[in-house]
Amino acid sequence: MTQTTFTPRVFSGIKPSGGLTLGNYLGAIKRFVGMQGQMETIYCVVDMHAITVWQDPKELANMTREVAAGYLAAGLDPSQSILFNQSQVSAHAELGWIFNCVARVGWMNRMTQFKDKAGSNAEKVSLGLYAYPALMAADILLYHATHVPVGEDQKQHVELTRDIASKFNHDFKTEFFPLTTPVIEGPAMRIMNLRDGTKKMSKSGESDMERINMTDDADTIAKKFKKAKTDPAPLPETVEGLSDRPEARNLVEIYAALNDMTAEAVIAEYPGAGWGTFKPALADLAVAKLAPISEEMARFMADPAEIDRILGAGAVKARAIAEPILRQTYDIVGLLRS
Ligand code: TYM
Repeated sequence: MTQTTFTPRVFSGIKPSGGLTLGNYLGAIKRFVGMQGQMETIYCVVDMHAITVWQDPKELANMTREVAAGYLAAGLDPSQSILFNQSQVSAHAELGWIFNCVARVGWMNRMTQFKDKAGSNAEKVSLGLYAYPALMAADILLYHATHVPVGEDQKQHVELTRDIASKFNHDFKTEFFPLTTPVIEGPAMRIMNLRDGTKKMSKSGESDMERINMTDDADTIAKKFKKAKTDPAPLPETVEGLSDRPEARNLVEIYAALNDMTAEAVIAEYPGAGWGTFKPALADLAVAKLAPISEEMARFMADPAEIDRILGAGAVKARAIAEPILRQTYDIVGLLRS
């Protein structure tokens, strides 16, 4: 089938489950800011995704505001990007149901993130956790988004989104939904845990020393980098020398992403450097880049009513795009509207 041309449009989202990490910042938020102004950009706090695992109701609203504060503090501008939380636009859930009826159980069974999260407990997790990638496809396709910036861990879900769009288009003999491109580029697509370079840095790790939180103050950021696990060898002379050294590679990639350079350029600047040189340089850089953002986040968090106002205004704009697309989808499927 030849593809209809869709207007370039970016959509992406972050779950408000636990605090934002350096992984969310470098793999997502910083890149969201970079795409702002280049095409239409829509960024969501995906609270309906968060409740696929238990969330304390009082905490959920606060965490939703905290992700929004992270977006704003990092430079997303509500006059340039649409910022909102998912549950304020009910069309997400409605299209999600239709996609539950398009996606195949066999496809869901291949989702590695579900397997990792459910582990040996798969019988006891929520049905929502299993169906989650179909809701994610709805988030994206509800806006006919053509580009989705995400970290490496979300690649499979964006590929599933393409499969859902293709099957819908094929089943209903239409070209209604675009085949969205995952945008996964740059040095920070998979930031690893600071205590174990083989595990992803995540919100839910056991020890706070494994991750940098976007709310950490300057002293905490510096301490965590200085204590980060490394092997004893100094940095290599070329970037190839990082290939079997996950912790070293991670720290070099973090430096590169924070400073908008490639890992090659970092190694060219610090060839053969010892950790006693590189770690303090990384800590200084991280503090210079992150501390102003965490201060700005605290400023936004001090005025929750203003965050709520911004999310509400964003939801109005999001609905204006989403609702006509949902109505057309209903018509294509044959759901009666009187
Ligand atoms: P979530 O909330 O787990 O993560 C949000 C974004 O942060 C990226 N990320 C990382 N990138 C690099 N290194 C890391 N250690 C790291 N940890 C997290 C993620 O790749 C993601 O881009 N299902 C999604 C949320 C979602 C979504 C969407 C995304 C729902 N609907 C539609 C895009 C489009 C999730 O759970 O991301």
